[in-house]
Amino acid sequence: MEIEFVAADAPLGAKTAVARVVFEGGSYDGALGRAVAASRFTGAKGQTLDVLAPEGGPDRLVLVGAGKADGFDAIAAEHAGATAWKTLSVSGLETLRIELPNGSKDLAARAALGVRLACYRFDKYRTKEAADKKPSLTNAQVATAEPDAALAAFPPLAALADAVSFTRDLVSEPANILYPVEFARRVKELERLGLEVEILGEAEMAALGMGSLLGVGQGSVRESQLVVIKWMGADDKSAQPVAFVGKGVCFDTGGISIKPADGMEDMKWDMGGAGAVTGLMHVLAGRKAKANVIGILGLVENMPDGNAQRPGDVVTSMSGQTIEVINTDAEGRLVLADALWYCQDRFKPKFMVDLATLTGAIIISLGNDYAGCFSNNDELAANLLDAAGKEGEPLWRMPMPAAYEKQIDSVIADVKNTGGRPAGSITAALFLQRFVNNYPWAHLDIASTAWKKPSTVPTIPDGATGYGVRLLNRMVQDRYEG
Ligand code: BES
Ligand code: MN
Ligand code: ZN
Repeated sequence: MEIEFVAADAPLGAKTAVARVVFEGGSYDGALGRAVAASRFTGAKGQTLDVLAPEGGPDRLVLVGAGKADGFDAIAAEHAGATAWKTLSVSGLETLRIELPNGSKDLAARAALGVRLACYRFDKYRTKEAADKKPSLTNAQVATAEPDAALAAFPPLAALADAVSFTRDLVSEPANILYPVEFARRVKELERLGLEVEILGEAEMAALGMGSLLGVGQGSVRESQLVVIKWMGADDKSAQPVAFVGKGVCFDTGGISIKPADGMEDMKWDMGGAGAVTGLMHVLAGRKAKANVIGILGLVENMPDGNAQRPGDVVTSMSGQTIEVINTDAEGRLVLADALWYCQDRFKPKFMVDLATLTGAIIISLGNDYAGCFSNNDELAANLLDAAGKEGEPLWRMPMPAAYEKQIDSVIADVKNTGGRPAGSITAALFLQRFVNNYPWAHLDIASTAWKKPSTVPTIPDGATGYGVRLLNRMVQDRYEG
């Protein structure tokens, strides 16, 4: 998708549709007035009215409702751009001209971001899609009073769209294609952006004592990987970094505690946390962020096998703590236990944030819009929630009551990997906390938000959302740069 910013009176080219973004309560004359009067279009958010061949206008005009004028913020502008694209994408026309009701350069750039996010498709495995089902739009023009300033404001948002698309690609890939070594290879390729990428294999992890992570991958023929991604963009390259850790279970069958067949295909996206961390590093490099940031991915495949880990096994983590594996399907926390420990041990970061599609229970708690935030640090949690709100990635803080610790006390080891059904997301977070040595830390359980079908947000097509990239990028930008 080609993005341009043009002056409000720039002449229209051939095969162009105009999407006019309007507020609630506008008045219209002529043919447009009659079209509006003959519909229920009020300009409310998300409404559209398609007007074919209006007199004296373009071939096609779509009114896009943006709600009340005083609520037209960055997210509303993105949604308007995204809705315009969705309404006209398969129209047969090639260029989309978006007219905004308010000329600010930043909102124009945000509308363009909305188009970039909405037009994402994962179509590499479709060989027979009918031509008229494919998007016809190839260009989007955002008309604004300040096209040059809007163009100058766009690059960091374009970097964000690239990164979110990269994450969505990773999350959408089936597990026969994207297994740990292939995931690591794709991350390694990002060195072209200026990132530094280190890959540890099973022998190196064994030498470090990562028995918890390695136990999960033990039943898979695919080798487990630990990936370290560095972006040292601060002026002082030796300044203490911030760190992000992602659960990358490339496929989660449950292992010997095998999952039911129905819906198991969803577990290809059990690497959504690692996908989001990768996307964050992608955007930081893409926009040359002035911050020192470490990304760590724990990549494994959880399979049943003659060599797989059994329920009841006891493994020794890098921290030295022993873990009784009650349920091999509670594998994400086993991966993160070693990844978190390694992260703080090696990098001594200002804080660590992990992202993980960790528990089905978070979907029961919060539904499919909010991810859960668990933290030992109020300031870090507040910064995450603030960034999430600004970027339209809803996040809700969850409690971590010490009284629930006893649910994960083991009789024969230091800790067990499940705490039973009550508060399943909370006991998972309490488990992780035992592998965090008093560093400021937050855990985002994104099992509820990494995948959306059907999606209810115009900037997110059905499927992989890329959740987390935006909010983490925003937090780094607002709090740790400059
Ligand atoms: N990957 C799953 C969690 C999940 C469920 C993610 C649904 C996305 C959608 C995780 O590894 C898991 O299996 N968790 C178990 C934990 C239980 C065995 C304690 C769960 O949530 O049921
Ligand atoms: Mn599992
Ligand atoms: Zn899992």
